[in-house]
Order: sequence, then structure tokens, then C-alpha cells
Amino acid sequence: MRTIETIGEMQNSALSIRTEGQSIGLVPTMGAFHEGHLSLMRAARAENDRVIVSLFVNPVQFSPNEDLDRYPRNLGRDIELAQGEGVDILFVPAVEEIYPKGFCTQVTVTGLSDRLCGENRPGHFQGVATVVAKLFHIILPHRAYFGLKDYQQSVVIRRMVEDLNFNLEIITLPTVREPDSLAMSSRNAYLSQEERTAARCLKESLDLAVQQIEGGERNAGALRSSIRERIGREKEVAIDYVSIADPETLQEVSTLTGEVVIALAVRIGETRLIDNQLVIP
Ligand code: PAF
Repeated sequence: MRTIETIGEMQNSALSIRTEGQSIGLVPTMGAFHEGHLSLMRAARAENDRVIVSLFVNPVQFSPNEDLDRYPRNLGRDIELAQGEGVDILFVPAVEEIYPKGFCTQVTVTGLSDRLCGENRPGHFQGVATVVAKLFHIILPHRAYFGLKDYQQSVVIRRMVEDLNFNLEIITLPTVREPDSLAMSSRNAYLSQEERTAARCLKESLDLAVQQIEGGERNAGALRSSIRERIGREKEVAIDYVSIADPETLQEVSTLTGEVVIALAVRIGETRLIDNQLVIP
């Protein structure tokens, strides 16, 4: 596996792979790999001639009060794990490489970026869309792989790809879970043992809502209330939002008439966690 740090070298390599007629699968990441990242790498390995993983902790998608400084970083371990999955190139640019002095362009996917996580994390999806657009230009992938754990992110990126005519396919893969049902996330490492136990309420409340939908409940307000009630039993958990929304527009629904995404964000101590579930009533 090659490690590349500069945009020039990455772009040249991507261009020569394309010139050889080979396909490129990109897995964009911020490192601290877990099984969720590895599942994306495996899918990319199975479907493309070359697999490129980008590892860049993108400062512009963190608000000033967020965890940029303490975001887990372990390059040595990530290199070993990526190598183990047969990744061809690990692209690890420095912050100044991606955002040189004078950088002032932003990609904004309006509307979709302001809902759900966008309400509590202003500027987050602009930061994501901007870096992902840059990665797509630099790495020229045929396919790019994202986890459904970050459901809103995948919707924002799909919209950007369509609106800006990126010639590539977005592939989303299911959330990978820990044995205790917690969605895998680099941020799980921040949780104490008690917080980790309390965090089970995310998946439990999603499962409860699914059961109620299967039992015939179609009133989104009633479903939101029962999710809030289940999470509210955990004293250390504060709800950011409970959303039952259209899976494409992310607009809240009042009655379930077709597929919805149930999406949650909570804070446990200093840690913000999200989870979601797509449901067809
Ligand atoms: O999902 C992530 O890890 C990041 O948001 C991404 C897509 C790599 C952009 O920084």
C-alpha cells in the first residue's frame, strides 16, 4: 500500500489509474478505523480495480466548541488495518495541503444541510460537502463509499453529486454495530462504562418505534413521543433531536404514508451520538 500526502501526487496517480482503464473505489474517512470503515473498504475492494482511502480529520466540519482536538488519531494502526483490507493507496494530506492560505470556497447544499444535525451543528455539512467535493476532484473515483450511520451526510452528498454533475456512483452500506447494539463510531471511545450502558437507549428506542410501526402506528408525533420517553429514562442522556422524516427531503412527516427515516441525536456527557433506521410502514 502506498501512502500519499500531496494533492499533486494523488491527482497524478488517480489520472494514471484511469488512463490504464482501471476503476477507482474511494472510501473517505477521518481515520480511527473501526469495523464500519473496514466494511466500506471491503465493498470497495470487491467492486473496483483500485481502492483509495482518504484519511483527513477535516477541521472545517467541526464547530469551535466540538471535539476536533481530541478526535481519535492513530495513523500507525490505521495503516495496518487498511493494508489488511488490500487498500492500494492511503491519501493522508495535511490540513495546509487541503486548505492552503487564501482558501475561501465553500460548497453548500441548502435546506438538507440545515435540518436534523444541521440545526445543532451549523456549518457542519458545508464543511463535509466542501472536503468531499475536493476529494472527488483529487481522487476521481468511479464509486465512493459511505456508511448509513451518517444518514444525513449520505443524503447531502448524493444531492451534491447530482447537482454538481460529479460523474461517480455513491454507494451506502448498512450501519455496523457493536455487540451491545451501539452503532460503531470513532466517538464511542469517549464513553465511560456507565455512559456506554446508557447509550443502548438509542437502538432500543429505534427498535421500539419499528415495533410500533409494525403494530400499525402511523402517527409520527406518537412515535416521536415514545422514543423520547424511552431515552428520557436515562438520566445522563440529553436529546438533541428525534426526527421522523422523509428519507430524501429530510422534512418531518406527521403521518407515515411511505418510507421514513427515524433519526436521533443525543448527548451523553461530552459525547454526541447519532443513530437512525429506515422503515417502510
Ligand atoms: O464521515 C466522515 O468520516 C467524514 O464526514 C467525511 C465524509 C470523511 C468527510 O470529512
